[in-house]
Amino acid sequence: MKLILLGPPGAGKGTQAKMLVERFAIPQIATGDILRGAVQAGTSLGLQAKGFMDAGALVPDEVVIGIVRERLQEGDCQGGFILDGFPRTVAQADALQATLAGLGRQLDRVVSLTVDAEALVQRLTGRRTCRGCGRGYHVTFDPPRSGESCDACGGELYQRDDDQEATIRRRLSVYAAQTEPLIAYYRQAGLLAELDGMQSIPVVQEQILSALQAG
Ligand code: AP5
Repeated sequence: MKLILLGPPGAGKGTQAKMLVERFAIPQIATGDILRGAVQAGTSLGLQAKGFMDAGALVPDEVVIGIVRERLQEGDCQGGFILDGFPRTVAQADALQATLAGLGRQLDRVVSLTVDAEALVQRLTGRRTCRGCGRGYHVTFDPPRSGESCDACGGELYQRDDDQEATIRRRLSVYAAQTEPLIAYYRQAGLLAELDGMQSIPVVQEQILSALQAG
């Protein structure tokens, strides 16, 4: 299964990708997670990316394209992969197409999750993530059973720097301007499944699994 999860910030791409990883035993390639890891580690990639991320802007295409091109050639991607947060521009989509063609591979499906703007703001302001294992929660929609710490590993939960309301709204307008055109791009390629991301987390997962079977 070679899949792209497309959708605005907070649509549930990461949440759904983690469930699909368990089901299909293929890796999630989340450019946001890779970039945050680089920022945390203080690498030159992280230093380059931080300003863009803090501002809610996109990191330059050539940087993320290089990351994904290398990642797709690793052994664990041979059985398939889930791209989460990439591509985000037409240039990235074209580069992905060229990379996969060079590897003799092609995408199976692009799932686009649609969610109302105000629900996205509510989801992102309430999002919490485990510092230990990366599991995501929501203070209202998916709270940890144990209250303050991660159910899976007991790790500390934190709020992302770019999940402040002003930055969230900037990220949403960047999505509308630069990423939304990919919906038409992949519809034209005959790969798109547009799903209602306003449903509950398990219902969205069911919709994705049906779309993958139909594809
Ligand atoms: P990135 O980390 O990719 O962030 P994003 O796309 O903005 O997406 P999010 O992670 O915010 O949302 P999500 O859809 O994964 O939602 P989640 O499942 O967590 O990118 C961050 C930054 O990195 C970018 O701004 C950019 O600077 C840079 N970057 C990354 N990739 C790049 C690229 N390709 N090119 C250039 N720059 C790039 O869910 C959110 C919350 O909602 C959670 O709390 C969850 O529990 C809850 N939730 C999920 N589903 C539901 C549901 N169905 N009902 C109720 N609540 C739900």
